[in-house]
Amino acid sequence: MAQFEPVLTRNWNVENGHTLRVYEARGGYQAARKALTTMSPDDVVNLVKASELRGRGGAGFPTGLKWSFLPKDRTETLMCVNGDESEPATFNNRLLIERDPHQFLEGILISCFATRATTAYVYLRFEYIAGYKMMERAIAEAEAAGHLGRNIYGSGFDLKVVLHRGAGAYICGEETGLIESLEGKRGWPRIKPPFPAVEGAFRKPTVVNNVETLCCVPHIVERGADWFKSIGTPKSYGPKLYCVSGHVNKQVCVELPLGVTTRQLIEEHAGGVWKGRKAKAAVPGGISMGLLAESEFDVPLDFEALRPTGCLGLGTAAVTVLDETMPIIDYLAICARFFAHESCGQCTPCREGTNWLNKTIHRIKNGGGRLEDLDILEQLSQNMGITPGTTICGLADGAAWPVKNALAKFRGELEEYIRTHQNPASLPTPLQTAIAQGVPTGPIYDLPIPMRPGQLQAPAARPAPSSLPALTASS
Ligand SMILES: Cc1cc2nc3c(=O)[nH]c(=O)nc-3n(C[C@H](O)[C@H](O)[C@H](O)COP(=O)(O)O)c2cc1C
Ligand code: SF4
Repeated sequence: MAQFEPVLTRNWNVENGHTLRVYEARGGYQAARKALTTMSPDDVVNLVKASELRGRGGAGFPTGLKWSFLPKDRTETLMCVNGDESEPATFNNRLLIERDPHQFLEGILISCFATRATTAYVYLRFEYIAGYKMMERAIAEAEAAGHLGRNIYGSGFDLKVVLHRGAGAYICGEETGLIESLEGKRGWPRIKPPFPAVEGAFRKPTVVNNVETLCCVPHIVERGADWFKSIGTPKSYGPKLYCVSGHVNKQVCVELPLGVTTRQLIEEHAGGVWKGRKAKAAVPGGISMGLLAESEFDVPLDFEALRPTGCLGLGTAAVTVLDETMPIIDYLAICARFFAHESCGQCTPCREGTNWLNKTIHRIKNGGGRLEDLDILEQLSQNMGITPGTTICGLADGAAWPVKNALAKFRGELEEYIRTHQNPASLPTPLQTAIAQGVPTGPIYDLPIPMRPGQLQAPAARPAPSSLPALTASS
């Protein structure tokens, strides 16, 4: 393969690379000009289809195919750009926005032209204040220079870009949660179908794409589909931003061909595992993707190769390294707390399941675990999510995957932890507390109800079983 030339990050270390002046001087907006003045929207869609660009937001859905799902007879289309980026340890969108906002805007412009969207909502993670300000300035510059607004480059195409700040919820990154939130409602994912392409924001046909996905588009228009497909592995094409964090010497975000391995990322780009230690495991693409054991570090990080390892997929390609001293139960406790907090609560298996995972994992961590808890965790994690078909969105799958992978790959360590960290006396359950306090208890629904912290109230006395009315066939 020819020497890899980074394109998405090419302006990152250029002085004033974020300004329109420098961006244009380095060839910026030429691809947009080419698309709008020499191509039809369908030409652009077909080009992106031919490149086999897959979404960089987590699900890896083919971008051109998604665009072609828009109804042919639509009168209005909206674009929602997903810059929520709340998957832990993921920060590539932030850097793309802050360091090269015009590349991002050019990607939006070409993609909106292709899909005939005349309004693009950029949904930005609440915490990205610097990125928000950068985008405000870039939009103003682009409007003044005629890259946005009415009749762009004399093509007859109009585009308005609207910035929208999220309010700090992970679930608003899910595309229909994002749409609900954009509409001013609670970020509750919608049941699909209808998919956003048919009925999305404000009930209009809507395209939802990730920031990095759209940043790839100008380069595909400029260099062609064959160039794009010459980068990567046999089925996963193009450049990709990989974030590396956790127990490494240098936390980085680096642009590489799809299919680099975890070991290459750690050793060649992140300065190795910190403190001279060895790695135990790594999260391959955000915590919802699960866990790779160290023995799997040579598996290519692409859309295909991760599946046989039991991981959910490439996700956001944000790799987090766990060194040999990190107990797997601690990693699980961090994941479980996050998902229990972020579940929107609409689906029972997710609302209850994430909480039970969290409670059980924390009880094990705190020394109150039993070996059978691992089977309970296994059962719980197998029964929540889109994969078993019990929830509306993929948050529940993301909550289950770290548990499934940890049980499959580190069960021995978890069993050993339970055996060697037994401290039930210091961790009474409500039932144990009640027994210790002499409060009468009965079947499970008779558990005492805490009235104030530390105060327990016995349930009201129930009639003795003999005085209950007899059950009849008609009752
Ligand atoms: C719980 C959850 C959170 C998500 N968060 C994000 C996010 O922060 N950014 C993102 O681009 N996609 C996120 N996604 C994926 C989006 O639903 C959607 O697939 C993506 O934005 C589509 O863009 P793409 O095809 O360009 O990848 C999330 C999905 C789920 C289930
Ligand atoms: S799976 Fe969880 S986060 Fe997703 S809609 Fe259901 S309850 Fe909400």
